[in-house]
Amino acid sequence: MSIIDAPNRTDRSLSAQLTGWRLTWTLVIAIAIGTTAVAVTVGGVAGANEGIRITARTSAVLFLLAFTASATYRLWPNDFTTWVRRNRRYLGVAFAGSHLVHAGFIIASVVLSSARFKAGVERTPGGVYVLDTIAYGFLIAMTITSFDRIAKRMQYASWRRLHLTGSYVIWLTFFVAYWRRGITYPLFYGPFLLVVLAALVIRAAGKVKRKNAPAGA
Ligand code: HEM
Repeated sequence: MSIIDAPNRTDRSLSAQLTGWRLTWTLVIAIAIGTTAVAVTVGGVAGANEGIRITARTSAVLFLLAFTASATYRLWPNDFTTWVRRNRRYLGVAFAGSHLVHAGFIIASVVLSSARFKAGVERTPGGVYVLDTIAYGFLIAMTITSFDRIAKRMQYASWRRLHLTGSYVIWLTFFVAYWRRGITYPLFYGPFLLVVLAALVIRAAGKVKRKNAPAGA
């Protein structure tokens, strides 16, 4: 854990207590239990599909928070953006946990109705699944290298290249998923698509602000 990630142990507020790996575990356990409860209540393959959709959304929130953490802090420095920036690594690993649950529901939906899954695959361009799979590959590599013991064995330039490329590939995967749904159901999925696009704009604006900042700021 680096100094910027270290929780402040004298502060008793919720945001101060819910940091670091405790934050990651709390989020992943809540997502796993909450989505499983919904899936079981709905039941069968419809329940598994509901689980896929909910975990895709929890993953999107966690990923986009980590993806924009530095930019939002730079643009609007306040308690919340400071907390997000300090916890960006833990939010990123919680995203990986949420997406592990997404994968679990995908497997459950195949087991419960392979015919329905195949019908879905036939309606989806093959390239989407190629991109999804590549994104999972980056997600796994980024998660493994989020642990100090492994990160320290890598050259910083390689670590940075992996995390930078991976984060844009994952962003693209969310963009494609919500673009495809957004053009079919604009009223429901349009806002999801706008949030994904806004994250990219915020990140770019954060970069511009960093470039224009006086040296040492
Ligand atoms: C990092 C990779 C991935 C990302 C970012 C991702 C993201 C998403 C998103 C945003 C949705 C839409 C959820 C909604 O309705 O709000 C979704 C749905 C879905 N995903 Fe994933 N996904 C990924 C990988 C995969 C893979 C590899 C598969 C299957 C092999 C898959 C299967 C599905 C299915 C079947 C749905 C539709 C569920 C339904 O509407 O009933 N996903 N995913």
